[in-house]
Amino acid sequence: MSINVIVIDQGPIRTLRMNRPEKKNALTAAMYDGMAAALESASGTSPIRCVVITGAPGVFTAGNDLQDFLKAAMGGEGLGAPVMRFLYSLARCERPLVAAVEGNAVGLGTTMMLHCDYAVAAADARFQTPFVSLGLVPEAASTLIAPGLMGHRRAFELLVMGKVLNGEEAKACGLVNAVAPAGQAEAVALEAAKKIAALPPEAVAASRALMRGAPDTIVARMDAEADEFKRRLKSPEARQAFEAFLQRKK
Ligand code: COA
Repeated sequence: MSINVIVIDQGPIRTLRMNRPEKKNALTAAMYDGMAAALESASGTSPIRCVVITGAPGVFTAGNDLQDFLKAAMGGEGLGAPVMRFLYSLARCERPLVAAVEGNAVGLGTTMMLHCDYAVAAADARFQTPFVSLGLVPEAASTLIAPGLMGHRRAFELLVMGKVLNGEEAKACGLVNAVAPAGQAEAVALEAAKKIAALPPEAVAASRALMRGAPDTIVARMDAEADEFKRRLKSPEARQAFEAFLQRKK
């Protein structure tokens, strides 16, 4: 397990915390593997009934580590096995997923909301997906789920134009369920998780499976996006965007 991912079980609730605050919780391969393992093991006969995904105080995640994207671009690689493992674990997770977002939720930080069953954002949270300005394409099956959730035009603003949403705006387009005062998103999310965990688990699982449908369609879109993502990573415009961020003067 990566030291930058903390997994704590309290009774039937598992909390999965991204914890690399010095890099704004930018996600590394080891973090993806740790997060995937925490979701994969909350299945079958596991006593876990709900998983809460959260970050460090004031920061959810800055999305994929751009240094890793740059390495992948130089090496002609794609998103990489750990990223895909985590994406599949989101699509196939057998337990309800609850998110608590404080601060920035960039890239996958935003698109993972689309896989959560319940999400709470702090009022001053900032959701953004700068994929296209980085020369990339959206991932995590967001090109499939977001238009269905919020309509094509709002999804276009978010995923292509990179519009930044605060907590209320995220709620208005269905990206999150509830808005909490800054600093209280996790507490509110935990209350929701407790309510979910107190419900009859088999009825929750059956209802959720009916509502979400077969994960294969989601997984197929993740794969299609990943193919395009790999092509885009190799593009000069993507490489220049990563280098510009990593070499910027503060
Ligand atoms: N990958 C690698 N390092 C990252 C990172 C990322 N995605 N996001 C932040 N960091 C690093 C910064 O380089 C900086 O490192 P340093 O202190 O060694 O210079 C540190 O984290 C703090 O980041 P900083 O930009 O100073 O914090 P901020 O509060 O001013 O801004 C963000 C926070 C998230 C808005 C900003 O860091 C950002 O835009 N990050 C890139 C997001 C991104 O494009 N992600 C990819 C999505 S596909």
